[in-house]
Amino acid sequence: MVFQPQPKILISRDEIAKAVDRLARDIERDYQGKQPLLISVLKGSFVFMADLIRQLDLPLELEFIRLSSYGAARESSGKVRVVQGAKTPIKDRDILVVEDIVDTGITISFLLDYLKKKKPASLKLCVLTDKPSRRRVPVPIDYLGFTVPNKFIVGYGLDFDERFRNLPHIYTLED
Ligand code: IMP
Ligand code: MG
Repeated sequence: MVFQPQPKILISRDEIAKAVDRLARDIERDYQGKQPLLISVLKGSFVFMADLIRQLDLPLELEFIRLSSYGAARESSGKVRVVQGAKTPIKDRDILVVEDIVDTGITISFLLDYLKKKKPASLKLCVLTDKPSRRRVPVPIDYLGFTVPNKFIVGYGLDFDERFRNLPHIYTLED
C-alpha cells in the first residue's frame, strides 16, 4: 500500500503568529542599537523567517544558508555539509541564526561551529520548534517558539519528502 500520511493540526496558525510576535519582542529588546544579520537555514525556516522579520523593528540584514539535508528519510545521516554559504561577511557581525526545528541537534550545532570560526561579534539561535526528546548534541537555544513531542511534524515550512511546506499550521503526520 502507498504511504498516505494524514496531517493533524498540532500548532495552529494563530498560536504560531503569537509565538512569532513574542520572539520578535524579545529579539528587538536584545538587539537595540544593533544591526543584526539574520541567517535562515534553508529550506525549512524560510516561512518562519519571512514572518519573523516583518515583526522586527530593527535595521536588520538577511542571509540564507543551505545545508545538506535528510533527503527523503526521517533520520539524520549525522553528516552535515554547507551546500550554499553566506556571501555577507560574518566577522564582527551580530549573527542570529533562524531555524525551523532542532531534533538531534546535529545540523544546528554543525552550523553554529561553522559560523563561530568566522569570528562574529555575537552568535545566537532562534528556533521555532524544539524536539528535545531526540537530542544527541546539546544546543543552546536563545529564543524558542515551541517544544514539540517526539513526532514528525510538517507545515509552516517544514516538509516530509519536500511536501507540506505550504500548509499554514504545523501538523503531525499520522500513519
Ligand atoms: P537534526 O540535525 O536532527 O537536529 O535535524 C534538523 C533538521 O532535520 C531540521 O532542520 C529539519 O530540516 C529536519 N527535521 C527534523 N525533525 C523534523 C520534523 O519533525 N519535521 C520536518 N523536518 C524535520
Ligand atoms: Mg531545517
